[in-house]
Amino acid sequence: MKPSSCALFFLFAFIASSAKAQVVLDAAGDFVTNGGTYYILPYIWALGGGLGLAATGNETSPLSVVQSAFEVDNGLPWRIACPLRILHVPTNSSLEFLSVEGKVPESVPLPSRWSFVEGENGNKTVKISGFENPMTGWFKIQQVNGWAYKIVFCPVNGDPCGDLGISKDDKGNRLLVINDDDPLNVVFLKAESKSEKVSQV
Ligand SMILES: *[C@@H]1O[C@H](CO)[C@@H](O)[C@H](O)[C@H]1NC(C)=O
Ligand SMILES: *[C@@H]1O[C@H](CO)[C@@H](O)[C@H](O)[C@H]1NC(C)=O
Ligand SMILES: *[C@@H]1O[C@H](CO)[C@@H](O)[C@H](O)[C@H]1NC(C)=O
Repeated sequence: MKPSSCALFFLFAFIASSAKAQVVLDAAGDFVTNGGTYYILPYIWALGGGLGLAATGNETSPLSVVQSAFEVDNGLPWRIACPLRILHVPTNSSLEFLSVEGKVPESVPLPSRWSFVEGENGNKTVKISGFENPMTGWFKIQQVNGWAYKIVFCPVNGDPCGDLGISKDDKGNRLLVINDDDPLNVVFLKAESKSEKVSQV
């Protein structure tokens, strides 16, 4: 290998590795903190509110992750956690979305995380832990443009990853499903707890 092509190789390797290390930005342009809590809102404001919980199908307590129909409703804060011991959440990396204490029904064991579950109608939707037959896999955050991202689910069984989109059930609940044709583009809005505010003073 000539020295010049060798240098070129390292330049490309450097560009490739720095692209991989891209960090997710929140709606204020700050790095998304690993383990921090965020509201997940649609990128286009007119397209409904944030992601929260609702009782759908045969559920007696709210266990399905749904998008609020109301623009002014931020939904619930969710903890975004990357298992790597790093400060900020990278794009394209395996993540978990966890419930925040006090924001889920008391019957739900914590930590409760998002998973894909086949509901009674055979459709797979995102619910918090507590169901039988969750599909094992990971979520990822992929940049669409600027601060707009889509959330991707990758099953461990080797099936291709799929983009999260919205599908309405017959009661009008906006359930999270795999929808590669029409992914939900989201932004992450930092949810500051009182203790976090105090510790900043
Ligand atoms: C993330 O993955 C997508 C799809 O595989 C790819 O198009 C994109 O370039 C990747 N981004 C980074 C920063 O690696
Ligand atoms: C709801 O439906 C699921 C899937 O058919 C079933 O496993 C579960 O036991 C049902 N729950 C209730 C409370 O009926
Ligand atoms: C699954 O969801 C689709 C889209 O919302 C709906 O048309 C279909 O009826 C659902 N399937 C069942 C078995 O309910």
